[in-house]
Amino acid sequence: MKKFLKVTAVVMVFAMLACFAACGADDKGAEKGTLVMATNAAFPPYEYKEGDAFVGIDIEIAQAIADKLDMTLEIKDVEFGSIIGGVQTGKFDMGIAGMTVTDERLKSVNFSTSYATGIQVVIVASGSDIKSLDDLKGDGSMKFGVQQDTTGDIYASDTAENGGYGEDNVIRYKTGADAVQALKAGKVQAVIIDNEPAKAFVEANEGLEILDAEWAREDYAIAIAKENTELLEKVNNALAELKDEGKLAEIINKYIPAK
Ligand code: ARG
Repeated sequence: MKKFLKVTAVVMVFAMLACFAACGADDKGAEKGTLVMATNAAFPPYEYKEGDAFVGIDIEIAQAIADKLDMTLEIKDVEFGSIIGGVQTGKFDMGIAGMTVTDERLKSVNFSTSYATGIQVVIVASGSDIKSLDDLKGDGSMKFGVQQDTTGDIYASDTAENGGYGEDNVIRYKTGADAVQALKAGKVQAVIIDNEPAKAFVEANEGLEILDAEWAREDYAIAIAKENTELLEKVNNALAELKDEGKLAEIINKYIPAK
């Protein structure tokens, strides 16, 4: 028992020392100012994890912006649907998550200038009877898988007169990857998601294909709180510089090589 206590004491001292070192480093970061970005890192090639590291187009753009503002970037990996609310309340400085600019979202937050285009596409099982958009039906004969709170969810869940398939025919998943697994398991017959993640998922999973049709074309931008016009301006300036320097194209080409 005594020995155990001694070992515990030694461990505690080490833990304290480690904490001091870490706190010191943190102080330096605080001096520089921290730029907190919220994302949902299951959306390759925009944001995903390689081991413990966050990688992807949005991560590198955010880092490049933070560098320009001489700030330390902090990444929070959260549910996609909680990003806008967190930006609104100031929990996060900005949301970068392959996020589409929509009128509805513009009621809650501001968006930077757009830095990329997204296209909503449809993934089906190879050899599926669904060959074109015309084969998609909201009559109960098929289920649609989407990532909760994404534009794919919003459009698909809409009523037939608005071009959707009806709430009852849509199954919402936490991530796009989960929706794709449900497609593979036959729980849904189509997944509606952005084109680049769709390509990444189809590449990583056998037996899937993307319909040769565009469901909707959208602009991606960075969400920033309405009050924080100072940051909006800084981010827009940084984005303009990154564009002029060719850095933006370089980052995008790294993850989406031009064919
Ligand atoms: N572009 C879509 C939207 O804004 C999907 C974005 C999902 N992003 C993510 N990191 N999971 O709703």
